[in-house]
Amino acid sequence: MNSGMINRRDILTGTASLLAAGSLPLPAHGAAGAAKEFPLVAASARLSLVGVQHPTTEVWCYEGRVPGPEIRVRQGERLRVVVENRLPEDTTVHWHGIRLPNAMDGVPHLTQKPIAPGGYFTYEFECPDAGTYWYHPHQSSAEQVGRGLSGALIVDERDPVEVDRDITWLLSDWRLLKDASISDDFRNMHDVAHGGRIGNVVTVNGAVRDTFQVRAGERIRLRLINTANARIFALEFEGHAPKVTALDGQPVEPHEPPNGRVVLGPAMRADLIVDMTGAPGQSFRVVDRFYSSLNYRLLNLVYSEEPPLRTSFARDHIRLPANPIPEPALDAADRHKIVLGGGMMGQMRAAILDGKRADIRTLFQNGLAWAINGVAARGHVHKPLLTFSLNRSYIIEMVNETTWHHPMHLHGHSFRVLSRNGQPTRYKEWQDTVLLAPRERVEIALVADNLGDWMFHCHILEHQEGGMMGIIRVE
Ligand code: C2O
Ligand code: CU
Repeated sequence: MNSGMINRRDILTGTASLLAAGSLPLPAHGAAGAAKEFPLVAASARLSLVGVQHPTTEVWCYEGRVPGPEIRVRQGERLRVVVENRLPEDTTVHWHGIRLPNAMDGVPHLTQKPIAPGGYFTYEFECPDAGTYWYHPHQSSAEQVGRGLSGALIVDERDPVEVDRDITWLLSDWRLLKDASISDDFRNMHDVAHGGRIGNVVTVNGAVRDTFQVRAGERIRLRLINTANARIFALEFEGHAPKVTALDGQPVEPHEPPNGRVVLGPAMRADLIVDMTGAPGQSFRVVDRFYSSLNYRLLNLVYSEEPPLRTSFARDHIRLPANPIPEPALDAADRHKIVLGGGMMGQMRAAILDGKRADIRTLFQNGLAWAINGVAARGHVHKPLLTFSLNRSYIIEMVNETTWHHPMHLHGHSFRVLSRNGQPTRYKEWQDTVLLAPRERVEIALVADNLGDWMFHCHILEHQEGGMMGIIRVE
């Protein structure tokens, strides 16, 4: 992706205004610290999302495209991204899933001043873990992500597994009106208090696609990224047996997904190895079965007429090398409990809002419908939900007392998912976002090895802005 390299003059321009703003992280010098640089301009653009027979759509996006450019670095490499804000409002960029220094985390008011229209901010950090990540604004996320601001961040292993093609499918969900424009009913209380803003158009890499071309006998590494505000996917690859090799960027024991469905809540990722075991000329559906009443075909895998690339597939050689994440000491870990409450059909009658008890009507009037441990949070800065000591191990039991799904995300760390409803998980998978089903109880474990105030929130963006967020402080 060298085409994304920034030219010298732009760096200098960006640097100059940043120095003026006093927010420039000093670039590292010398070969070892040399960073790979990318420009990232956030602005509006008109693009064709739903095909030529429909009007174009005005979106907000990075570098004039949807999704934004795929930013790709090698594990351990430094990344420097000069963000320029040409949107009509403040923005920030959050590097979802990357274990980076707090000041680079892109949370407005908490870790940085938001980037004002016409302003710049330079993000610079190392990528310690290989895997599939993504970037998006953390300012007015429900609207800014919902209008198209997101992109993939891929960190390649130093020694990647061998495949014929390494493909990313960035899945987005849009709520479009008849004229293909984006519906501007962001944060309406129906979405906030129910399942979030579920759209009516799903795109793969920025377009509604009918087909994806494959060749018989090829092995594809397929990186799935769910960038939707609220839509949960459960993808079934008919006629194929994909193996999951990573979740949220982190390697997992290779396995077939339960019930043959790859389930991804908002912000979650999965890396699959898909062997193209069909015959030349065949076609197979990829179907999303998450909402039983709304099954639809995402696209077809269409085999070319070319002769098979191979007729048998190596069973091994798909396991990914582990990332350098510290292993939580479960025996010595401190335990904490986090209770998720609220939403329609929930029991929540009141919550703490700005330090005072507020009844459900008052919460609704303030656009809030959710709470964590009884607190409905507004904005990004508040009293920490939990305070952790640096390098200690913690187990958090999350209890979902609502009748809704919640993909709960912690910044700056990856955690092991230990159990669900008291049953140990099979793979003790590392995640940065864990999907809780209605009424589900999940235990996670982590070493608090990253200093700072870290957001902990539901990644259904309407739930996040509707109160379901908090801060975990590591000091
Ligand atoms: Cu992907 Cu707090 O976000
Ligand atoms: Cu939620």
